Amino acid sequence: MGGTFGLSACLAREGDRTDTPTEGVDFPSGPSDLSTLPRRQHAWNDYLIHDGHGNTILPRHQLVLFLDYTGSIPPTDDERARVEEAFRGIEAAFQRGTGGRRDALFNGGLLFTVGYTPTYFDRFDESLPTSVGLDTPESVVDELSEEPSIADDHDAVVVLNSDYASVTLTAEEALFGTLDTVDGVEVTSSLGGVFERDARRAAFVGRGHPARELEHDEIPDSAPLSMGFKSGFADNQPSEDKVTIDEGVFAGGTTQMVSLLELGLDEWYDMGSDERVSQMFGPGLDVDEVGSTGEQLADESGITEETVDRLRADADERGRVGHSQKLAAARDEDFDALILRRSEGNVPAEFGPALSFTSLQRSIEDFVTTREAMNAPELDDEVEDDRHGIRGFVETRHRATALVPPRGLRSLPTPRGRE
Ligand code: HEM
Repeated sequence: MGGTFGLSACLAREGDRTDTPTEGVDFPSGPSDLSTLPRRQHAWNDYLIHDGHGNTILPRHQLVLFLDYTGSIPPTDDERARVEEAFRGIEAAFQRGTGGRRDALFNGGLLFTVGYTPTYFDRFDESLPTSVGLDTPESVVDELSEEPSIADDHDAVVVLNSDYASVTLTAEEALFGTLDTVDGVEVTSSLGGVFERDARRAAFVGRGHPARELEHDEIPDSAPLSMGFKSGFADNQPSEDKVTIDEGVFAGGTTQMVSLLELGLDEWYDMGSDERVSQMFGPGLDVDEVGSTGEQLADESGITEETVDRLRADADERGRVGHSQKLAAARDEDFDALILRRSEGNVPAEFGPALSFTSLQRSIEDFVTTREAMNAPELDDEVEDDRHGIRGFVETRHRATALVPPRGLRSLPTPRGRE
């Protein structure tokens, strides 16, 4: 819902909840010296909760804001200062995630990024340097033979994450100037006048939430994601270094894919749990090894080079292959995944259950390579669509691509950085 009404209703709701301690929770504020914050906007791992196996746990609530630029080209110093002050305002008001505390159990702070799309950079005469692999969403849907109308054309994407929905909503309202203070910190600037909110996407993740929030009886009670299994293990999420642009004026930045995926949950849960494990992971794994929601898998996804080598044989002999098994075929020479899946959230969309998918990668081409591995058309003769990992249960409804600049260039960059 959003807005100040959504915020006050959310605060009241959080107050009632038992699993979200708010009593006496005075949301921790940000550092007085903001220069102590990381140079990379996407440096989140040190500010995320880690489970007992060292896997990072994403904050429960995600809010994605799609913005249209209404400022000047090139941006004036005033416009740039205004935007920067607005972002610094929420950084001062809210601690960066867990504040770096490795033993944190709750993520009472805020993690956010701002990214700029090809539509924004097309407003300038110059083009982005070749060191930035920011393909347009149109070219991505074309390469993936998807419906052209799903390509989004906003100018910027702000992704806000926290364990408390009131934190993401407060940050949103502060960014758009409907609040005078946040946690006692005066709001001195907003994005209003430079950006307009065109669309927003609220999502959530976390054990038990999908079963409670999405009207779908089949979702296991303790599942963190609506398709039942936890995702993102230490062994198949690349390091932040691997997805960071390492040369040129935007070194220290990254690229972001922001998609909305419609899920065929009815058909998915028509299958038995063994089949769902096989198709989410690989035919070589079973429910006892994985667990009903992936809880048996410590820091390893169970996918090995042998699992990938078995793809062709599994297709020929079983007529069934796994989502992870296929995706792992896109890993690099160190057998690291190319994309860092950052905040996959459940969305009760108007068309039904959906997944808000965002990933970071050094170039958008790395995402396309990974998604092509998920499609794996070379297996189609042997494998029916509904046995082809999760491909037959997922339809892409929106795609946006963005460059997430390093923090120092996050406010109205030009294709040349700051000139
Ligand atoms: C409905 C949407 C999706 C769901 C519910 C989902 C869920 C999962 C789960 C449960 C796993 C296995 C656990 C893990 O290894 O993390 C996994 C693996 C993975 N998924 Fe997805 N996924 C979805 C869509 C996608 C998409 C669209 C992509 C990107 C093209 C993607 C990329 C990956 C990658 C790279 C892996 C790890 C494969 C490896 O081990 O190298 N997923 N996903």
